[in-house]
Amino acid sequence: MNPGTNRQWRVARYPRRDEVIGPEHFTWTSEAVREPDEGQFLVRTICLAPVPAQRGYLEKNHNDFLENLPVGAVMRGRGVGEIVASRHPDYQVGDMFIGSLGWQDYSIQHPRGKEFVFSTRKVTNPLRPLSTQLGVLGQAGATAYFGLLDIGKLKPGDKVLVSGAAGGIGSIAGQIARICGAGVVVGTAGTEAKCRWLRETLGYDAAINYRTENVPERLAELFPDGIDVFFDNVGGDTLNAALGQLAMHARIVICGFISTDYAPGTHHGPINYQRMVYKRARMEGYVLFDYWDRYAEAEGNLLRWYRQGVLKATEDESQGLETMPAALASLFTGGNTGVKICRVAPDPEHLPG
Ligand SMILES: NC(=O)c1ccc[n+]([C@@H]2O[C@H](COP(=O)([O-])OP(=O)(O)OC[C@H]3O[C@@H](n4cnc5c(N)ncnc54)[C@H](OP(=O)(O)O)[C@@H]3O)[C@@H](O)[C@H]2O)c1
Repeated sequence: MNPGTNRQWRVARYPRRDEVIGPEHFTWTSEAVREPDEGQFLVRTICLAPVPAQRGYLEKNHNDFLENLPVGAVMRGRGVGEIVASRHPDYQVGDMFIGSLGWQDYSIQHPRGKEFVFSTRKVTNPLRPLSTQLGVLGQAGATAYFGLLDIGKLKPGDKVLVSGAAGGIGSIAGQIARICGAGVVVGTAGTEAKCRWLRETLGYDAAINYRTENVPERLAELFPDGIDVFFDNVGGDTLNAALGQLAMHARIVICGFISTDYAPGTHHGPINYQRMVYKRARMEGYVLFDYWDRYAEAEGNLLRWYRQGVLKATEDESQGLETMPAALASLFTGGNTGVKICRVAPDPEHLPG
């Protein structure tokens, strides 16, 4: 990489609603690296996190909190990087920084900038590998943490089901359930290898391959007394199956719904929602952005568990900024195991291990 050049992925065209996103929706460009003006600083990207929500930036009115991107714009994306030039008194060269860096090598940041939102900050405990700041110690970890403990109100002994369990947030949610004393932890995932990983590496009691197994039958076997907490990343048929196997006063945490969001075909509502009446169950959606004032709580506990060795990092790195569109596409085809990260540059040498 030429140090004076900023390589970028820009939006080339919007995918159709049911089209799988891929490299054809982006253009690879480059420009000279800019110098920061007064009040600004320059960040060199080290890692980027492709997440399913980025698909929505290429669609009008996709959600309530971030605008869609125009064709030609640098693709928006959260990342972690190093401040390499600064004309802002609070941001020093050498600080690690997390924020909306975009799919590019360098970004100019300033606290009143349009993209300077949502937990943009200096990294308080920079550790090697820095990818953990976007995974187990970052937003993926915090989303699992608040979903399970605040929305799911997990109690010791609870029997927990996690869907999308081998994905980014799911791979952390099951581990937190175990750490916090869940009685049983079961995950659903799309391949045998992922199911084995959940059982053998992440400490799940059991895993269900939703592509090859009968999910309602397996849930009935594994949860004879019902599911107390269902942490749902996928929605659709899996949500419906889980609703059919609830325990009394079950909590259903709606984190995501990747199986129906951009999938082709017609999708139906979950008919088993009727079971929520008999089981006095509660279903609640949430958005991590509502938890910024409590973010330090999640960050502190995740770091403590990670240092104790009871919470494992699950980042799944692809190498090079060039791989970013394919990395995003892989989320929709099950290509990732754990938190998908795109490594753009090596970790700075001065970081502790
Ligand atoms: N509420 C919030 O604040 C919040 C914040 C961030 C993300 N989210 C949402 O949380 C969910 C998880 O996010 P993440 O970033 O950790 O992504 P992720 O779970 O890593 O997403 C990719 C995984 O989704 C699974 N998947 C893809 N298509 C599927 C389908 N049709 N049916 C079932 N599973 C499918 C694949 O695993 P398999 O191989 O198992 O199919 C794939 O590995 C997403 O829905 C995301 O939008 C919510």
